[in-house]
Amino acid sequence: MSLLAMFKSVGPTGFGYGSTAETVTKGISLKGQTILVTGCNSGIGAETCRVLALRGAVVLGAARTQKKAEAACARFPGSAIGYACELSDPTSVRDCVEAIKMDKRRLDAIICNAGIMMLPKLEKSNGYELQFFTNHIGHFMLVTGLLEQLTERARVVMISSDLHARAPVGAIDFDNLSGEKGYQPLTAYGQSKMANMLFAKELQRRFSGTAKVAYAVHPGVVDTNLARNMGPIVSVLVKAIGPLFLKSVGEGAATGVFAAVSPKASRLGGTYLADSNVTRPRLDVENPEIAGRLWAESEKIVRSL
Ligand SMILES: NC(=O)c1ccc[n+]([C@@H]2O[C@H](COP(=O)([O-])OP(=O)(O)OC[C@H]3O[C@@H](n4cnc5c(N)ncnc54)[C@H](OP(=O)(O)O)[C@@H]3O)[C@@H](O)[C@H]2O)c1
Repeated sequence: MSLLAMFKSVGPTGFGYGSTAETVTKGISLKGQTILVTGCNSGIGAETCRVLALRGAVVLGAARTQKKAEAACARFPGSAIGYACELSDPTSVRDCVEAIKMDKRRLDAIICNAGIMMLPKLEKSNGYELQFFTNHIGHFMLVTGLLEQLTERARVVMISSDLHARAPVGAIDFDNLSGEKGYQPLTAYGQSKMANMLFAKELQRRFSGTAKVAYAVHPGVVDTNLARNMGPIVSVLVKAIGPLFLKSVGEGAATGVFAAVSPKASRLGGTYLADSNVTRPRLDVENPEIAGRLWAESEKIVRSL
């Protein structure tokens, strides 16, 4: 447990900052459930898979390569099957969708966890800024490609971030999705995480009339490989004071796991969760016009790939 967790109270769900993926699933059997998790080989995603498998779910662990996915899945208790899914490569994402369909997997939940953060210099895939493409477009392709595989009460969980608040004015800079007209690492990361939030909102709207739900989640601040681009000073600082002030990886995995499987989350579809409780996102997340426009633009991009 992180030191900070000792001073934080729990929220209405009975969970809070210091809850871990193990505590939010205590007493829950996931036998018979199949859950797809992206980014299964590292950080929050690896802990998410471990705990879901521990509780009896069949975990489909996606990583950039088949080798990475299989190596990670071999470390989880219970049943875990590896799938290659390089989110910045449309062919790889389409192949992953096809493989899951071929294997006739029915999905009780998808946790879109994989992500990259604050690339120091502009990088692109298929003409689009790489964080937007990886964190949003890759997951958009994956989830929309698998909609028919979802079970009746399936849950889709987008691991976003409080840093969605650092997205540009207007939420998404639709005129600069390439990053060519100006690139700022934090703004670009914020925009990609804003896109995760808007995708969850629009998906929830499209699920209306069904028992399926979508959530966006802030996992908390955790010392993982995510900060690899932030330089050696940040890295040393995080190692020194991280255990005092940052969440443990178990605490970081809690909210996504809570959203994906807890009975307490079943009525919270369409919300933004942090510390396994509902919290408020930046105001423009609630604007259906922006979410609708992002969905239409994402479909256009995917058609062109
Ligand atoms: N850690 C935090 O403080 C924090 C705070 C807020 C939000 N988040 C969010 O939490 C999620 C998990 O991050 P983490 O902290 O666990 O970081 P992490 O340890 O770096 O894990 C990120 C995962 O995403 C995978 N990934 C990256 N690019 C990919 C691509 N192109 N295709 C497929 N997989 C890719 C990585 O694979 P490789 O190992 O092969 O690169 C890794 O498995 C991210 O979405 C992040 O934005 C984290």
